[in-house]
Amino acid sequence: MSDIQEILSAISKPSEGVYAPSDDTFLMIDALSTVSLRDKEVLDLGTGSGVLGLLCAQRGAHVTVADIEDSVLANLRIAARRLNLTIEAVRSDIFSGVASRFDVVLFNPPYLPSDEIQDPTVDGGNRGRRLIDRFLGDLPLHLKKGGFALFLVSSLNDPDSIIDSNPKLSFSVATSRRLFFEELQVLLCKLRDLSS
Ligand SMILES: C[S@@+](CC[C@H](N)C(=O)[O-])C[C@H]1O[C@@H](n2cnc3c(N)ncnc32)[C@H](O)[C@@H]1O
Repeated sequence: MSDIQEILSAISKPSEGVYAPSDDTFLMIDALSTVSLRDKEVLDLGTGSGVLGLLCAQRGAHVTVADIEDSVLANLRIAARRLNLTIEAVRSDIFSGVASRFDVVLFNPPYLPSDEIQDPTVDGGNRGRRLIDRFLGDLPLHLKKGGFALFLVSSLNDPDSIIDSNPKLSFSVATSRRLFFEELQVLLCKLRDLSS
């Protein structure tokens, strides 16, 4: 069984309210395929089923996963035990429960534009940007020197304006996929060197 199949099988019956791997998750997995993870400190923020964090741990990273939902963390601990992987799981509202800095930060946020937050796994408020903007505001405090984030945005979130609003960060497209009503992109984001 491949790494990913083994993980999907270990998380196959998450509790109600835990986000099941979807198109956006698999695009994040594609983006991770070219990243060297051995011995890296990785944060998987908004971990949901835990698939991204578990995959990184399977590939030799030291992984912390974080989510605002306690049920997510309970599920994740069960899946990690099934796979014999060691993962730190913390409850956190974006970075509120996370003190350290990381080599790699992953975030597949709830990004769907919505008037209110009915489903916190997918609803992203105004332009779908409620959590994306908070995430990028605090990200510089949680990246090690040379570290980077991989995070998912949709064309519905106006990615150009995300880039324009964060001049301290540099962005490139790691991978993308066109779906029926949107284009998904995984952005690779680093701290811009403003010293020169
Ligand atoms: C779209 S799901 C992504 C799940 C998983 N990472 C994946 O790629 O399949 C978004 C996740 O963010 C979590 N979340 C929502 N609001 C959050 C917040 N304020 N802080 C941390 N996590 C949050 C949700 O509980 C959910 O698990």
